[in-house]
Amino acid sequence: MQVILVGLPGAGKGTQAERIQSDFGIPHISTGDMFRRAVASGGELGKQVQSYLDSGRLVPDEITIAVVRERLKAEDAQRGFLLDGFPRTLEQAGALDAMLNELHRPLDAVLYIHVHENVLLARLTGRRICRSCGATYHTVFQPPQVEGVCDKCGGELYQRPDDTEAAVKTRLEQYQQTAPLIDYYKERGVLYQVEGEQPIDKVHADVKAVLQPFV
Ligand code: AP5
Ligand code: ZN
Repeated sequence: MQVILVGLPGAGKGTQAERIQSDFGIPHISTGDMFRRAVASGGELGKQVQSYLDSGRLVPDEITIAVVRERLKAEDAQRGFLLDGFPRTLEQAGALDAMLNELHRPLDAVLYIHVHENVLLARLTGRRICRSCGATYHTVFQPPQVEGVCDKCGGELYQRPDDTEAAVKTRLEQYQQTAPLIDYYKERGVLYQVEGEQPIDKVHADVKAVLQPFV
């Protein structure tokens, strides 16, 4: 099963991806997570992308496409994948089409998690992430049992540097480059819209119902 998750920053892509990954046993491939790991490890890629990430601007297509092309060659991606945060521009979408053709893999579904912009600031500024396992929490909407500590692994929770008000504003502006993808995939008959302003478990049930037929 080959699936793409698309939606505004904070729509709930990562939150749902964690769940879909365990429902269907396919790897969750998040370009944002890959870039954050590259920054944390201090290598060449991390140095190239850090200023984009911290300010909320998109990393150039050339770099992003190369990273995804490499990742899709890995063994675990051969049984399918869930792409989260890629593609984000029409150029990236075209490159992904070419990659999928080469791999003889069809694109099954593009899940568009729909939310209104006015809910995002509260979601993003309250988000906390586990430093060890990457699990996502929210101080109000999805709090851990012990403040600052991951329920799953006991790791320390931190706030992403781009979850400040200023960076969120830039990320919302950058989304103008991603919005045309909705029509791009709608025209191809693979777009499924899920309402993202419901409780997390309800969004999950809707997402699962959309994906079940593709198993
Ligand atoms: P990326 O990591 O992809 O960030 P994003 O798209 O801004 O998405 P987020 O991770 O912020 O949001 P999400 O939708 O996953 O929300 P979440 O589930 O965490 O990208 C980061 C950066 O990397 C980019 O700015 C760019 O620089 C670079 N980059 C990445 N991909 C790129 C690409 N393809 N091209 C170029 N550059 C790229 O939820 C948010 C919060 O809300 C959480 O706290 C959660 O608990 C809570 N929440 C979730 N669902 C609900 C709900 N239903 N009700 C209440 N609260 C909820
Ligand atoms: Zn953890």
